[in-house]
Amino acid sequence: MLLLITFALTFALIVGAFPKPQQAQAGGTPKCRFSRTFSQAQILKDPSSFISDVLYWEGNFHQNNVSYNSGNGMSYDGTLLDETTGLATAKHPFSAASKEALQIMLYAHAIAGSPQAARFLSPNNPGAAPAIAINIMTLKLQTYLQFNKTYPGFGGFLPWYTGDSQNIVPTWDWVNRVPALDNGELIWAVYSAIQAMSSNKNYQTLAQGWQAWLDYTKLTAAKVSSMQEMGQFVPLQILQNQSFPVNDPRQSYKCEGSGTLNDPYEGELFTWWLYFFGGLSQKDKNLLWEVKRPQLVSVEDNMGGVGPITVQKGYWFSAHEQ
Ligand SMILES: *[C@@H]1O[C@H](CO)[C@@H](O)[C@H](O)[C@H]1NC(C)=O
Ligand SMILES: *[C@@H]1O[C@H](CO)[C@@H](O)[C@H](O)[C@H]1NC(C)=O
Ligand SMILES: *[C@@H]1O[C@H](CO)[C@@H](O)[C@H](O)[C@H]1NC(C)=O
Repeated sequence: MLLLITFALTFALIVGAFPKPQQAQAGGTPKCRFSRTFSQAQILKDPSSFISDVLYWEGNFHQNNVSYNSGNGMSYDGTLLDETTGLATAKHPFSAASKEALQIMLYAHAIAGSPQAARFLSPNNPGAAPAIAINIMTLKLQTYLQFNKTYPGFGGFLPWYTGDSQNIVPTWDWVNRVPALDNGELIWAVYSAIQAMSSNKNYQTLAQGWQAWLDYTKLTAAKVSSMQEMGQFVPLQILQNQSFPVNDPRQSYKCEGSGTLNDPYEGELFTWWLYFFGGLSQKDKNLLWEVKRPQLVSVEDNMGGVGPITVQKGYWFSAHEQ
């Protein structure tokens, strides 16, 4: 969800004390405090060197015990940085499907051969990037499947979890609870990773493993999201008991609070999943969109003497949730 931010972004924004105009070489090792070596005009003319430096330093976020756990392949929410040294301090040992989505999207690009993703993941040996991503995706799938075995009530989806141990566990405040919003991001990230893996014959087995996980969420999505009549589903669901399988007579799902996930932005990824794969009637499919239509509002933006520009009214509008 949206309350926790990933602190690695500050890596790239630290401003150096000694400006020295120079063009960093794409592919080389840029100096740490590189931003002042660029002028705005240079970046506007050709942003590639700047992007390359950002990716290089951002890529330091991709370390065991900083942004992910190399033992089980799972993301961490983030790690705080010492504002003076830029070094990692306290780690958030928890994470969620939304952070998983970011990690998996990056790997999808690496597997598809993106030079930018390789710059982030493996700048000294860009050719190794796809294999790095594949190895972590292999571990991650095992962790997801084990989680589904231990906590079948989530129907394959993820709550906020603690990822420090080999097998992830729901954080204390997400026992028997699951968010639709974050999982909407996750399923489409996995969808894209499968697309990337499928185009390489060496990755077919892994692609099939992930496809099986993804296909399973198609069967459980409507139930776990407490899909109600009238095309409504809600952001948060309470499970009777996370250890009971989805179709166990002892299992049940109920909505937490009265909010519905009917916004035209953050909740939309899960809506699409239900629409395409949730096994809904045509009537319910149509209702999914009808109930959210009133929230699609246009606004005239007038700022700094520019405008009016017609934009879609947002709420949080965090980039990874739009
Ligand atoms: C992981 O990082 C934390 C700081 O966030 C540190 O206390 C701990 O020792 C590290 N663990 C390992 C195995 O390096
Ligand atoms: C998840 O667990 C359920 C219940 O045990 C099982 O039926 C299903 O096949 C599992 N899903 C995957 C992808 O293994
Ligand atoms: C789920 O049910 C099992 C078996 O009845 C019980 O031991 C466990 O405490 C329950 N877990 C939760 C989180 O309610």
